[in-house]
Amino acid sequence: MLYPLARSVLFRLDPEVAHELTLSKLDFAAGFGLTRIVAGRVPELPVQAMGLTFRNPVGLAAGMDKNAAHIDALGSFGFGHIEAGTVTPRPQPGNPKPRLFRLVPAEGLINRMGFNNDGVERFVAHVRAQKRFRAAGGILGLNIGKNATTPIERALNDYAAGLRAVYLDADYVAVNISSPNTKDLRALQGERELGALLRGLRDERRRLEDEHGRRVPLAVKIAPDLDDDAIPPLADALVAHDVDGVIATNTTIARDRVQGLAHAEETGGLSGRPLRERATEVVGLLARHLKGRLPIIGVGGIMEGADAVEKIRAGACLVQIYTGFIFSGPELIGQCVEAIQAANVLSGTGRPRRTQRAA
Ligand SMILES: Cc1cc2nc3c(=O)[nH]c(=O)nc-3n(C[C@H](O)[C@H](O)[C@H](O)COP(=O)(O)O)c2cc1C
Repeated sequence: MLYPLARSVLFRLDPEVAHELTLSKLDFAAGFGLTRIVAGRVPELPVQAMGLTFRNPVGLAAGMDKNAAHIDALGSFGFGHIEAGTVTPRPQPGNPKPRLFRLVPAEGLINRMGFNNDGVERFVAHVRAQKRFRAAGGILGLNIGKNATTPIERALNDYAAGLRAVYLDADYVAVNISSPNTKDLRALQGERELGALLRGLRDERRRLEDEHGRRVPLAVKIAPDLDDDAIPPLADALVAHDVDGVIATNTTIARDRVQGLAHAEETGGLSGRPLRERATEVVGLLARHLKGRLPIIGVGGIMEGADAVEKIRAGACLVQIYTGFIFSGPELIGQCVEAIQAANVLSGTGRPRRTQRAA
């Protein structure tokens, strides 16, 4: 009830200014318990996936808390998990502003942020300074990427450096190879490139596991713009290289659903309602091929409870939200959990009870 008022004010501001302003006030609001009041009750609905227990299946997608500076405050809305990042080894400014656009009639966003972040050293310091979310049972995913100035042939160096830096502080690590806003990044999803990257990360993780005596799950985040035919071999490569989960999907470069709208032609990744159907399709393609070999985290265009149920029915066992959180507000978390609970589509063990049949 409170969010529509806040939204009417925030939507008058430039989107990135609104984002910064909201995050800067969030810790204060959380300190007074206001975030809980705004979000309402979020039921417990435990899900086992990647060897972890999630208190509910709804998480915050990567990109909102790029520097991991607001985990506890965001966590107090009731998310089951938060994925902080994408973080790169070295700090970088990202693309020139403006780089974030609202497509209000379509309930979409276009962003070309370009991994603006303070670098992994400050990121880890922020994670270590916040303990409340994890102490309350929240799962923390840390999402890693490569610096814009690192040539794509040396991408593994950046991902391995990121993995080493965040390893001890993550419940799981997400490997982002699907942002459209870093030159050539999505080429890492190609068969040869992916094989080399995954082999390198598997070796690095084995070393870290030996050194620290703890195996941290790795999830790979993929794009919605892959050809359907590319998805089965990609899924097989993830399984073959001991990856623990797949996050589908990142933003899309397609514009067919937003043609003619203001900002539709801006360069970047489109998220929100116009992405929903394709993201669900990709979840379904993965699920039909994987047959339970890997858990799928479904993300893209979840704007209401029914959209979360749709992702689970398609084969996801966890979901994430970003644009829906901006448009619908924190109440969306509880609405999604309740809708999933009411639809009785989750087995609780990381496997959806029913998967959608091939169309
Ligand atoms: C402003 C913005 C920044 C984002 N930054 C990242 C990022 O840094 N890393 C990443 O993996 N995904 C990033 N994403 C993608 C989201 O995590 C998510 O995959 C995508 O927006 C689809 O979900 P949605 O429709 O619920 O927003 C970003 C999305 C937006 C809107």
